[in-house]
Amino acid sequence: MSEVRQILVTSALPYANGSIHLGHMLEYIQTDMWVRFQKLRGNQCIYVCADDAHGSAIMLRAEKEGITPEQLIANVQAEHGSDFADFLVDFDNFHSTHSEENREFAELIYTRLRDAGHIATRSVTQYFDPEKGMFLADRFIKGTCPKCGAEDQYGDNCEKCGATYEPTELKDPRSAISGATPVLKDSKHFFFKLPDFEAMLKEWTRGGALQESVANKIAEWLDGGLQEWDISRDAPYFGFEIPGEPGKYFYVWLDAPIGYMASFKNLCKRRPELSFDAFWSKESSAELYHFIGKDIINFHTLFWPAMLEGAGFRKPTAVNVHGYLTVNGQKMSKSRGTFIKARTYLEHLNPEYLRYYYASKLGRGVDDLDLNLDDFVQKVNSDLVGKVVNIASRCAGFIHKGNAGAMVDANPEPELWEAFQAAAPSIAEAYEHRDFGRAMREIMHLADRANAWIADKAPWALNKVEGKQAEVQEICAFGINLFRQLVIFLKPVLPNLAAAAEQFLNVAPLTWNDHAALLANHQLNAFTPLMIRIEPVKIEAMIEASKEDLAAQSTEAAAPAGNGELVKEPLAAEINFDAFAAVDLRIALIEKAEFVEGADKLLRLTLDIGDAKRNVFSGIKSAYPDPSKLEGRLTLYVANLAPRKMKFGMSEGMVLAAGPGGSEIYLLSPDNGAKPGQRVM
Ligand code: MSP
Ligand code: ZN
Repeated sequence: MSEVRQILVTSALPYANGSIHLGHMLEYIQTDMWVRFQKLRGNQCIYVCADDAHGSAIMLRAEKEGITPEQLIANVQAEHGSDFADFLVDFDNFHSTHSEENREFAELIYTRLRDAGHIATRSVTQYFDPEKGMFLADRFIKGTCPKCGAEDQYGDNCEKCGATYEPTELKDPRSAISGATPVLKDSKHFFFKLPDFEAMLKEWTRGGALQESVANKIAEWLDGGLQEWDISRDAPYFGFEIPGEPGKYFYVWLDAPIGYMASFKNLCKRRPELSFDAFWSKESSAELYHFIGKDIINFHTLFWPAMLEGAGFRKPTAVNVHGYLTVNGQKMSKSRGTFIKARTYLEHLNPEYLRYYYASKLGRGVDDLDLNLDDFVQKVNSDLVGKVVNIASRCAGFIHKGNAGAMVDANPEPELWEAFQAAAPSIAEAYEHRDFGRAMREIMHLADRANAWIADKAPWALNKVEGKQAEVQEICAFGINLFRQLVIFLKPVLPNLAAAAEQFLNVAPLTWNDHAALLANHQLNAFTPLMIRIEPVKIEAMIEASKEDLAAQSTEAAAPAGNGELVKEPLAAEINFDAFAAVDLRIALIEKAEFVEGADKLLRLTLDIGDAKRNVFSGIKSAYPDPSKLEGRLTLYVANLAPRKMKFGMSEGMVLAAGPGGSEIYLLSPDNGAKPGQRVM
């Protein structure tokens, strides 16, 4: 037996200002499967994560919702927690970067870096919003592209022509927060002197900690020369104040990775057998792995190891980078209904379907991964239901009927049994190297062999032949044993299916090493279906519900305000009269307003637009709990919006409303005298 490894694993900390979607889930599922594999093997493996709770985006969103940042992050943490739990992502700890542990480590690391001479200060000139009284990050500045003249572009790059530039080069800059014209202002900033660590980074990034393509990318950056990293932000900011520097805060990305340590430290309080130093000190012999997406490589492979080194902590054993999720070959899209939130998925489908699909497509590289929904249905149904579960359901009945549920002692095909044994090390190696796709292929190959063998033996035919019942019992006991092997191999991916199988098999929780033994003379429990097929209508319903989220949001986003205070929405880019006239706005009479069965946010409106009737779904239910009150009212209606097919039917156009959302949505009405069908100009 090899000795027990001590392994600490992290996934990137999700931002505390938004919902988890299936793109995020790729990372958490990938990490969770790897962690579960390590635990199944008997290693000590600890999986920690946290919400990334700091930064101006979170501050501004809380302000907009009229709540404190603390309330916002508590709400989001609860939502994230249940999303992860329901996807069977089994963190040992899920903490927050807005925590005492994180404050302590952020201060400790900063002061150590400062005292060792790795912090510089200098004045920086930046755009400042005079109305809001805050410095503006690039994404909070909008203006006209200096290269192509496209309006309404963000402060650092143009979506039209792809140019990148400094915010100061934008023409007609304005604050995306208040709409005010920003002014240039100086302020003292703190910098982490990354170039001090160039030699260490050159060595570390080539020392096996990174996938080759990642190491190559970093080499380009290293060869281009490292820059000092700006780690401070001015008040108002939601984060930790820098020790001894009132009004200066740590930039969110400074304390975010420190959140890995903080979450582990927090866990140590609950699990006294864990020692912080055993995992984080320079002398640590434990392994440390970070799983991240390809968009945040520089933070984890340059800044983070340098911070750890400079502050006297150990560096990661490896940073495992994955690619991005696409759906049906394209970027996730709200209007196509493929921007699917974790919760929306869970309302329609079993989490293990997605876990298996991701596993089957994940390799060791950083390539993007496509969730092709047709392929998803086909693969899950054919592999999990058609191959794996099928073995048990084919064999269980004969054992229950023919031998009162007792498996006989039998190994009727030693060669097949040996093939399963021989595959185990190779499957384990694939898991270990995060080559989940190869592991799944090898497991399904075994499932194919098991099914072919059972089909060849045809116990259902043999059972009708007199004197062959003992043979039937041998075949089926062996079949159940092969099924049990597959369950062990799949357990990191399908923990619920494994638990249900353990219940049926009447065995203690299976571990990896259990694959070496055959169950013999063993009593089974009743067989219940372990997994059902995906019905394609469920996929359609999920897509429609994702579009519905959008419909509800677009009404919510209709305008300013919230909780007394009026938050200014920045004005959209100027349009000419023709563009405006292209919108056919009409007066409509709401003839009927009713609830839509199965939709949380929508009302169905029947509109009289003069010479015709229109059916519109509108995300205003939260503000009109008694829809009949809307009947007989006039409102404004976009008559030439392309119809949109929804789960509940066609939505033909859109009614106009203002307000921040929730109970505060106000349907617009014309003055008395307006008639249905009249054009609004
Ligand atoms: N808060 C930072 C990470 C701080 S780590 C110290 C962040 N948060 S995030 O919510 O935007 O992303 C969390 C993780 O999900 C990241 O690793 C990111 O790469 C991953 N993904 C987000 N969208 C994704 C896809 N569409 N596809 C695959 N992974 C994606 O970044
Ligand atoms: Zn441009």
